[in-house]
Amino acid sequence: MATRTRPAKKKSAKKKFIPNIVVFACNWCSYAGADNAGVNRIQHSPHFRVIRTMCSGRVTPAFVLKALKLGADAVLVSGCHFGDCHYIFGNYKAVEQFEKTKGLVKTLGLDLKRIRLEWVSAAEGGRWANLINEFVQQITELGPSPLNPKPTYE
Ligand code: FES
Repeated sequence: MATRTRPAKKKSAKKKFIPNIVVFACNWCSYAGADNAGVNRIQHSPHFRVIRTMCSGRVTPAFVLKALKLGADAVLVSGCHFGDCHYIFGNYKAVEQFEKTKGLVKTLGLDLKRIRLEWVSAAEGGRWANLINEFVQQITELGPSPLNPKPTYE
């Protein structure tokens, strides 16, 4: 009686894309929120790099466009919740800046899903982790930015 063997599994030729995400986090809330996630050992995706700014209102369209130009697949701007900004109206300024950024990103022909503005407080380590995981998942599904000359694959 002939023995039956399973056919060898074919290795998938398609490698998994690993997004390169730049996060601008304000010093007083979001950076501390990221730290909170780390201190509490909340597991989340490592596929992002944080740039600390004093306030989300400091993040002009030029910051985001430069990150995209240098190969970021997506950019997240994060600051304090309304009413918590240490510079009072900084995060309202961030909203204005972000609206301008959206217009420029759209003009460049990039998907607006590649940029995001979110609020995370110093106590919201869990929210930070969920936000990062969700954004990494979204950009993984979207694929590399057309401006990224060297996308990363597994
Ligand atoms: S200090 Fe956090 S948004 Fe202004």
